[in-house]
Amino acid sequence: MLETYPASILRDRSSKCGQGFEMHLYILIRYGKVFKTHLFLSPTVVSCDQELNYFILQNEDKLFQCSYPKPIHGILGEVSMLVAVGDTHRRLRNVALSLVATLKSKPEFLGDIERIAVRILDSWKGRQQVMFCAEARKFTFNVIVKQVLGLTPDEPQTTKILEDFLTFMKGLISLPLNVPGTPYARAVKARRRISSTVKAIIEERRRSRRRSSDGGGKYPNKRRSGTNGHDFLEILLGVESLSEDEKVSFVLDSLLGGYETTSVLMAMLVHFLGQSPAALAQLKLEHRTIRSMKGEDELLNWEDYKKMDFTQNVITEALRYGNVVKFVHRKALKDIKFRDGELKMVINPLHILMWNFKKDWY
Ligand code: HEM
Repeated sequence: MLETYPASILRDRSSKCGQGFEMHLYILIRYGKVFKTHLFLSPTVVSCDQELNYFILQNEDKLFQCSYPKPIHGILGEVSMLVAVGDTHRRLRNVALSLVATLKSKPEFLGDIERIAVRILDSWKGRQQVMFCAEARKFTFNVIVKQVLGLTPDEPQTTKILEDFLTFMKGLISLPLNVPGTPYARAVKARRRISSTVKAIIEERRRSRRRSSDGGGKYPNKRRSGTNGHDFLEILLGVESLSEDEKVSFVLDSLLGGYETTSVLMAMLVHFLGQSPAALAQLKLEHRTIRSMKGEDELLNWEDYKKMDFTQNVITEALRYGNVVKFVHRKALKDIKFRDGELKMVINPLHILMWNFKKDWY
Protein backbone atom coordinates (compact mmCIF):
# COMPACT_ATOMS: atom_id res chain seq x y z
CA MET A 1 0.00 0.00 0.00
CA LEU A 2 1.03 3.59 -0.49
CA GLU A 3 2.44 5.52 2.44
CA THR A 4 0.31 8.47 3.58
CA TYR A 5 1.88 11.82 4.51
CA PRO A 6 0.44 15.09 5.87
CA ALA A 7 -0.22 17.83 3.31
CA SER A 8 2.02 20.13 5.35
CA ILE A 9 5.07 18.54 3.70
CA LEU A 10 4.16 20.28 0.45
CA ARG A 11 3.39 23.57 2.16
CA ASP A 12 6.54 23.53 4.30
CA ARG A 13 8.83 22.73 1.48
CA SER A 14 7.23 25.19 -0.90
CA SER A 15 7.71 28.06 1.53
CA LYS A 16 11.30 27.06 2.30
CA CYS A 17 12.53 26.12 -1.14
CA GLY A 18 10.14 27.75 -3.58
CA GLN A 19 8.29 25.46 -5.94
CA GLY A 20 11.33 24.48 -7.92
CA PHE A 21 13.96 21.87 -8.14
CA GLU A 22 14.85 21.66 -4.43
CA MET A 23 11.28 21.00 -3.44
CA HIS A 24 10.95 18.24 -6.04
CA LEU A 25 14.16 16.65 -4.89
CA TYR A 26 13.20 16.87 -1.23
CA ILE A 27 9.85 15.22 -1.85
CA LEU A 28 11.37 12.52 -4.03
CA ILE A 29 14.05 11.55 -1.52
CA ARG A 30 11.88 11.86 1.56
CA TYR A 31 8.57 10.39 0.39
CA GLY A 32 9.24 8.47 -2.82
CA LYS A 33 7.86 8.99 -6.30
CA VAL A 34 4.25 8.20 -5.43
CA PHE A 35 2.60 8.81 -2.08
CA LYS A 36 -0.74 9.62 -0.50
CA THR A 37 -1.55 12.83 1.29
CA HIS A 38 -4.47 15.20 1.79
CA LEU A 39 -4.79 18.29 -0.40
CA PHE A 40 -7.53 20.75 -1.37
CA LEU A 41 -9.92 19.16 1.13
CA SER A 42 -9.64 15.68 -0.41
CA PRO A 43 -7.42 12.60 -0.14
CA THR A 44 -4.80 12.87 -2.86
CA VAL A 45 -2.18 10.74 -4.54
CA VAL A 46 0.90 12.73 -5.52
CA SER A 47 2.77 11.12 -8.38
CA CYS A 48 6.24 12.18 -9.55
CA ASP A 49 6.51 8.92 -11.45
CA GLN A 50 6.92 9.37 -15.19
CA GLU A 51 5.49 5.95 -16.02
CA LEU A 52 2.40 6.41 -13.89
CA ASN A 53 1.88 9.98 -15.15
CA TYR A 54 2.13 8.79 -18.73
CA PHE A 55 -0.39 6.03 -18.00
CA ILE A 56 -2.79 8.56 -16.44
CA LEU A 57 -2.58 10.90 -19.44
CA GLN A 58 -3.00 8.00 -21.86
CA ASN A 59 -6.24 7.03 -20.13
CA GLU A 60 -7.85 10.44 -20.08
CA ASP A 61 -11.63 10.17 -19.88
CA LYS A 62 -11.41 6.37 -19.56
CA LEU A 63 -9.85 5.78 -16.14
CA PHE A 64 -9.04 9.39 -15.21
CA GLN A 65 -10.60 12.76 -15.75
CA CYS A 66 -9.38 16.34 -15.55
CA SER A 67 -10.42 17.65 -12.15
CA TYR A 68 -9.20 20.91 -10.71
CA PRO A 69 -9.93 21.62 -7.03
CA LYS A 70 -13.47 22.81 -6.28
CA PRO A 71 -12.45 26.36 -5.21
CA ILE A 72 -10.97 26.90 -8.69
CA HIS A 73 -14.41 26.09 -10.19
CA GLY A 74 -15.87 28.88 -8.04
CA ILE A 75 -13.53 31.40 -9.63
CA LEU A 76 -13.33 30.12 -13.20
CA GLY A 77 -16.98 29.20 -13.60
CA GLU A 78 -18.31 25.84 -14.77
CA VAL A 79 -18.05 26.58 -18.52
CA SER A 80 -14.32 27.22 -18.40
CA MET A 81 -12.37 24.87 -20.64
CA LEU A 82 -10.03 24.16 -17.74
CA VAL A 83 -12.96 22.87 -15.68
CA ALA A 84 -15.40 21.33 -18.20
CA VAL A 85 -15.16 17.58 -18.84
CA GLY A 86 -16.50 14.98 -21.28
CA ASP A 87 -18.55 16.11 -24.28
CA THR A 88 -18.68 19.76 -23.21
CA HIS A 89 -14.90 19.81 -22.95
CA ARG A 90 -14.50 18.15 -26.35
CA ARG A 91 -16.89 20.66 -27.96
CA LEU A 92 -15.13 23.68 -26.39
CA ARG A 93 -11.70 22.33 -27.27
CA ASN A 94 -12.67 21.73 -30.92
CA VAL A 95 -13.96 25.29 -31.23
CA ALA A 96 -10.79 26.62 -29.56
CA LEU A 97 -8.52 24.68 -31.91
CA SER A 98 -10.30 25.89 -35.02
CA LEU A 99 -10.32 29.47 -33.72
CA VAL A 100 -6.59 29.40 -33.05
CA ALA A 101 -5.92 27.89 -36.50
CA THR A 102 -7.99 30.64 -38.17
CA LEU A 103 -6.28 33.37 -36.15
CA LYS A 104 -2.79 32.09 -36.95
CA SER A 105 -3.55 31.99 -40.66
CA LYS A 106 -4.33 35.74 -40.73
CA PRO A 107 -1.46 37.78 -42.19
CA GLU A 108 -1.68 40.33 -39.34
CA PHE A 109 -1.02 37.72 -36.62
CA LEU A 110 2.80 37.76 -36.64
CA GLY A 111 3.09 41.47 -37.44
CA ASP A 112 0.99 42.44 -34.40
CA ILE A 113 3.17 40.31 -32.12
CA GLU A 114 6.39 41.71 -33.58
CA ARG A 115 5.17 45.30 -33.17
CA ILE A 116 4.44 44.68 -29.47
CA ALA A 117 7.91 43.12 -29.02
CA VAL A 118 9.65 46.02 -30.74
CA ARG A 119 7.72 48.54 -28.66
CA ILE A 120 8.84 46.85 -25.43
CA LEU A 121 12.45 46.60 -26.59
CA ASP A 122 12.37 50.31 -27.49
CA SER A 123 11.22 51.12 -23.95
CA TRP A 124 14.46 49.56 -22.61
CA LYS A 125 16.65 52.17 -24.35
CA GLY A 126 18.65 54.18 -21.79
CA ARG A 127 17.59 52.00 -18.87
CA GLN A 128 20.31 50.73 -16.51
CA GLN A 129 18.41 47.65 -15.50
CA VAL A 130 15.53 45.65 -16.89
CA MET A 131 13.51 43.19 -14.80
CA PHE A 132 13.02 40.65 -17.54
CA CYS A 133 10.25 38.60 -15.96
CA ALA A 134 8.08 41.73 -15.52
CA GLU A 135 8.76 42.74 -19.12
CA ALA A 136 7.92 39.24 -20.37
CA ARG A 137 4.63 39.41 -18.46
CA LYS A 138 3.84 42.80 -20.00
CA PHE A 139 4.63 41.45 -23.47
CA THR A 140 2.54 38.28 -23.01
CA PHE A 141 -0.45 40.15 -21.61
CA ASN A 142 -0.38 42.71 -24.42
CA VAL A 143 -0.11 39.99 -27.07
CA ILE A 144 -3.03 37.97 -25.68
CA VAL A 145 -5.27 41.02 -25.20
CA LYS A 146 -4.46 42.20 -28.72
CA GLN A 147 -4.98 38.81 -30.32
CA VAL A 148 -8.09 37.94 -28.36
CA LEU A 149 -9.89 41.25 -27.92
CA GLY A 150 -8.16 43.48 -30.44
CA LEU A 151 -7.13 45.96 -27.70
CA THR A 152 -3.85 47.87 -27.87
CA PRO A 153 -1.73 48.49 -24.72
CA ASP A 154 -2.82 52.17 -24.61
CA GLU A 155 -6.55 51.57 -24.38
CA PRO A 156 -8.12 52.14 -20.94
CA GLN A 157 -9.90 48.78 -21.11
CA THR A 158 -6.50 47.03 -21.35
CA THR A 159 -5.35 48.58 -18.05
CA LYS A 160 -8.68 47.73 -16.40
CA ILE A 161 -8.51 44.10 -17.54
CA LEU A 162 -4.89 43.82 -16.37
CA GLU A 163 -5.73 45.12 -12.86
CA ASP A 164 -8.66 42.72 -12.51
CA PHE A 165 -6.73 39.85 -14.00
CA LEU A 166 -3.87 40.23 -11.48
CA THR A 167 -6.38 40.21 -8.59
CA PHE A 168 -7.99 37.16 -10.16
CA MET A 169 -4.63 35.33 -10.39
CA LYS A 170 -3.78 36.03 -6.73
CA GLY A 171 -7.09 34.51 -5.63
CA LEU A 172 -6.61 31.36 -7.68
CA ILE A 173 -3.81 30.21 -5.42
CA SER A 174 -5.27 31.39 -2.12
CA LEU A 175 -7.34 29.86 0.66
CA PRO A 176 -10.87 29.41 -0.73
CA LEU A 177 -12.63 31.62 1.82
CA ASN A 178 -15.41 33.58 0.15
CA VAL A 179 -15.51 36.22 2.87
CA PRO A 180 -15.23 39.93 1.92
CA GLY A 181 -11.63 41.13 1.90
CA THR A 182 -9.95 37.75 1.33
CA PRO A 183 -7.90 37.23 -1.86
CA TYR A 184 -10.38 34.51 -2.88
CA ALA A 185 -13.43 36.80 -2.56
CA ARG A 186 -11.54 39.56 -4.39
CA ALA A 187 -10.74 37.11 -7.21
CA VAL A 188 -14.38 36.06 -7.56
CA LYS A 189 -15.34 39.76 -7.83
CA ALA A 190 -12.51 40.48 -10.26
CA ARG A 191 -13.67 37.61 -12.46
CA ARG A 192 -17.16 39.16 -12.54
CA ARG A 193 -15.70 42.55 -13.50
CA ILE A 194 -13.62 40.99 -16.31
CA SER A 195 -16.78 39.24 -17.52
CA SER A 196 -18.66 42.56 -17.61
CA THR A 197 -15.80 44.28 -19.44
CA VAL A 198 -15.60 41.47 -22.00
CA LYS A 199 -19.40 41.44 -22.41
CA ALA A 200 -19.32 45.21 -23.00
CA ILE A 201 -16.61 44.75 -25.65
CA ILE A 202 -18.68 41.99 -27.29
CA GLU A 203 -21.76 44.25 -27.30
CA GLU A 204 -19.79 47.14 -28.75
CA ARG A 205 -18.41 44.87 -31.44
CA ARG A 206 -21.93 43.65 -32.31
CA ARG A 207 -23.15 47.26 -32.61
CA SER A 208 -20.18 48.01 -34.81
CA ARG A 209 -20.98 45.03 -37.03
CA ARG A 210 -24.62 46.11 -37.28
CA ARG A 211 -23.55 49.63 -38.25
CA SER A 212 -21.22 48.23 -40.89
CA SER A 213 -23.98 46.05 -42.37
CA ASP A 214 -26.13 49.20 -42.48
CA GLY A 215 -23.57 50.66 -44.87
CA GLY A 216 -20.87 52.14 -42.60
CA GLY A 217 -17.96 50.30 -44.27
CA LYS A 218 -16.49 47.00 -43.15
CA TYR A 219 -15.11 48.07 -39.76
CA PRO A 220 -16.18 51.64 -39.14
CA ASN A 221 -15.21 51.40 -35.49
CA LYS A 222 -11.60 50.55 -36.23
CA ARG A 223 -10.05 53.16 -33.93
CA ARG A 224 -12.24 52.37 -30.95
CA SER A 225 -11.72 48.59 -30.98
CA GLY A 226 -8.15 48.77 -32.25
CA THR A 227 -8.80 45.95 -34.69
CA ASN A 228 -9.09 45.31 -38.37
CA GLY A 229 -11.46 42.46 -37.68
CA HIS A 230 -8.73 39.82 -37.37
CA ASP A 231 -8.88 39.13 -33.64
CA PHE A 232 -10.17 36.06 -31.83
CA LEU A 233 -13.32 37.87 -30.69
CA GLU A 234 -14.33 38.74 -34.22
CA ILE A 235 -14.18 35.05 -35.18
CA LEU A 236 -15.73 34.00 -31.85
CA LEU A 237 -18.76 36.23 -32.43
CA GLY A 238 -19.59 34.21 -35.51
CA VAL A 239 -19.56 30.87 -33.67
CA GLU A 240 -23.17 29.97 -33.04
CA SER A 241 -22.46 26.79 -31.07
CA LEU A 242 -21.20 28.79 -28.06
CA SER A 243 -23.32 30.52 -25.43
CA GLU A 244 -22.52 34.10 -24.33
CA ASP A 245 -20.96 32.80 -21.09
CA GLU A 246 -18.83 30.30 -23.00
CA LYS A 247 -17.55 33.13 -25.22
CA VAL A 248 -16.57 35.17 -22.16
CA SER A 249 -14.92 32.11 -20.62
CA PHE A 250 -12.87 31.58 -23.76
CA VAL A 251 -11.33 35.01 -23.28
CA LEU A 252 -10.54 34.31 -19.62
CA ASP A 253 -9.16 30.85 -20.39
CA SER A 254 -6.80 32.33 -22.96
CA LEU A 255 -5.51 34.85 -20.44
CA LEU A 256 -5.24 32.29 -17.69
CA GLY A 257 -3.68 29.58 -19.86
CA GLY A 258 -1.28 31.84 -21.72
CA TYR A 259 -0.16 34.61 -19.37
CA GLU A 260 1.95 32.92 -16.70
CA THR A 261 3.08 29.97 -18.86
CA THR A 262 4.41 32.02 -21.77
CA SER A 263 6.08 34.70 -19.66
CA VAL A 264 7.77 32.14 -17.38
CA LEU A 265 8.97 30.25 -20.45
CA MET A 266 10.46 33.45 -21.90
CA ALA A 267 12.20 34.23 -18.61
CA MET A 268 13.58 30.68 -18.52
CA LEU A 269 14.89 31.00 -22.07
CA VAL A 270 16.85 34.08 -21.07
CA HIS A 271 18.06 32.37 -17.89
CA PHE A 272 19.27 29.23 -19.69
CA LEU A 273 20.83 31.18 -22.56
CA GLY A 274 22.68 33.33 -20.01
CA GLN A 275 24.32 30.13 -18.80
CA SER A 276 25.20 28.89 -22.26
CA PRO A 277 27.27 31.37 -24.33
CA ALA A 278 27.68 28.86 -27.19
CA ALA A 279 23.90 28.42 -27.58
CA LEU A 280 23.38 32.19 -27.35
CA ALA A 281 25.96 32.79 -30.11
CA GLN A 282 24.27 30.21 -32.37
CA LEU A 283 20.85 31.72 -31.72
CA LYS A 284 22.10 35.22 -32.58
CA LEU A 285 23.72 33.92 -35.75
CA GLU A 286 20.45 32.29 -36.85
CA HIS A 287 18.46 35.48 -36.21
CA ARG A 288 21.02 37.79 -37.86
CA THR A 289 21.20 35.56 -40.95
CA ILE A 290 17.42 35.73 -41.38
CA ARG A 291 17.34 39.47 -40.65
CA SER A 292 20.10 40.14 -43.20
CA MET A 293 17.88 38.69 -45.94
CA LYS A 294 15.05 41.14 -45.20
CA GLY A 295 14.44 44.81 -45.82
CA GLU A 296 15.09 47.43 -43.08
CA ASP A 297 11.54 47.62 -41.65
CA GLU A 298 10.21 44.40 -43.13
CA LEU A 299 8.35 42.29 -40.56
CA LEU A 300 9.01 38.58 -40.02
CA ASN A 301 6.68 36.08 -41.66
CA TRP A 302 5.96 32.36 -41.20
CA GLU A 303 8.64 31.45 -43.75
CA ASP A 304 11.22 33.23 -41.58
CA TYR A 305 10.01 31.43 -38.46
CA LYS A 306 10.17 28.08 -40.24
CA LYS A 307 13.88 28.73 -40.87
CA MET A 308 14.54 29.11 -37.13
CA ASP A 309 15.39 25.47 -36.43
CA PHE A 310 17.89 26.19 -33.68
CA THR A 311 15.54 28.68 -32.02
CA GLN A 312 12.81 26.04 -31.97
CA ASN A 313 15.20 23.56 -30.36
CA VAL A 314 16.11 26.10 -27.69
CA ILE A 315 12.41 26.68 -26.94
CA THR A 316 11.67 22.95 -26.81
CA GLU A 317 14.59 22.29 -24.49
CA ALA A 318 13.63 25.20 -22.20
CA LEU A 319 10.07 23.81 -22.08
CA ARG A 320 11.35 20.35 -21.26
CA TYR A 321 13.92 21.37 -18.69
CA GLY A 322 12.19 24.44 -17.29
CA ASN A 323 9.07 22.56 -16.21
CA VAL A 324 6.75 25.52 -16.72
CA VAL A 325 3.57 23.73 -15.67
CA LYS A 326 4.77 21.91 -12.59
CA PHE A 327 1.74 19.80 -11.95
CA VAL A 328 -1.69 18.99 -13.28
CA HIS A 329 -4.72 17.57 -11.49
CA ARG A 330 -6.76 14.51 -12.39
CA LYS A 331 -9.27 12.32 -10.62
CA ALA A 332 -9.44 8.55 -10.77
CA LEU A 333 -12.82 7.36 -11.99
CA LYS A 334 -12.27 3.90 -10.46
CA ASP A 335 -9.70 2.01 -8.39
CA ILE A 336 -6.50 1.59 -10.37
CA LYS A 337 -3.81 -1.01 -9.70
CA PHE A 338 -0.32 0.17 -10.52
CA ARG A 339 2.91 -1.81 -10.21
CA ASP A 340 6.04 0.08 -9.24
CA GLY A 341 9.00 -2.32 -9.03
CA GLU A 342 7.87 -4.98 -6.62
CA LEU A 343 5.30 -2.70 -4.99
CA LYS A 344 1.71 -3.04 -6.14
CA MET A 345 -0.39 -0.01 -5.35
CA VAL A 346 -4.06 0.74 -5.46
CA ILE A 347 -4.85 4.35 -6.26
CA ASN A 348 -8.22 4.92 -4.73
CA PRO A 349 -8.39 8.55 -3.61
CA LEU A 350 -10.27 10.65 -6.10
CA HIS A 351 -7.68 13.35 -6.43
CA ILE A 352 -4.34 12.88 -8.19
CA LEU A 353 -1.66 15.52 -8.46
CA MET A 354 0.78 14.65 -11.23
CA TRP A 355 4.06 16.27 -10.51
CA ASN A 356 6.28 16.75 -13.50
CA PHE A 357 9.68 15.38 -12.68
CA LYS A 358 12.55 14.99 -15.14
CA LYS A 359 14.89 12.00 -14.97
CA ASP A 360 18.00 14.10 -15.62
CA TRP A 361 17.33 16.30 -12.59
CA TYR A 362 18.63 13.69 -10.20
C1 HEM B 1 4.69 27.95 -22.64
C2 HEM B 1 3.43 28.03 -22.88
C3 HEM B 1 2.37 27.05 -22.39
C4 HEM B 1 2.48 25.91 -21.64
C5 HEM B 1 3.73 25.27 -21.07
C6 HEM B 1 1.14 25.39 -21.48
C7 HEM B 1 0.83 24.22 -20.81
C8 HEM B 1 -0.43 23.67 -20.72
C9 HEM B 1 -0.75 22.39 -20.11
C10 HEM B 1 0.26 21.44 -19.47
C11 HEM B 1 -2.08 22.22 -20.21
C12 HEM B 1 -2.88 21.00 -19.78
C13 HEM B 1 -3.47 21.18 -18.39
C14 HEM B 1 -4.17 19.91 -17.96
O1 HEM B 1 -4.25 18.94 -18.72
O2 HEM B 1 -4.68 19.86 -16.83
C15 HEM B 1 -2.63 23.40 -20.88
C16 HEM B 1 -3.95 23.58 -21.18
C17 HEM B 1 -4.46 24.75 -21.70
N1 HEM B 1 -3.76 25.84 -22.16
FE1 HEM B 1 -1.77 26.00 -22.22
N2 HEM B 1 0.26 26.24 -22.11
C18 HEM B 1 0.96 27.26 -22.68
C19 HEM B 1 0.46 28.34 -23.40
C20 HEM B 1 -0.87 28.59 -23.58
C21 HEM B 1 -1.42 29.73 -24.29
C22 HEM B 1 -0.55 30.82 -24.97
C23 HEM B 1 -2.76 29.66 -24.22
C24 HEM B 1 -3.83 30.56 -24.78
C25 HEM B 1 -3.63 31.77 -25.21
C26 HEM B 1 -3.08 28.44 -23.46
C27 HEM B 1 -4.35 28.01 -23.18
C28 HEM B 1 -4.64 26.79 -22.61
C29 HEM B 1 -6.00 26.30 -22.43
C30 HEM B 1 -7.29 27.03 -22.82
C31 HEM B 1 -5.89 25.01 -21.86
C32 HEM B 1 -7.02 24.05 -21.52
C33 HEM B 1 -7.15 23.12 -22.70
C34 HEM B 1 -8.06 21.98 -22.43
O3 HEM B 1 -8.54 21.80 -21.30
O4 HEM B 1 -8.32 21.22 -23.37
N3 HEM B 1 -1.91 27.84 -23.11
N4 HEM B 1 -1.59 24.25 -21.18
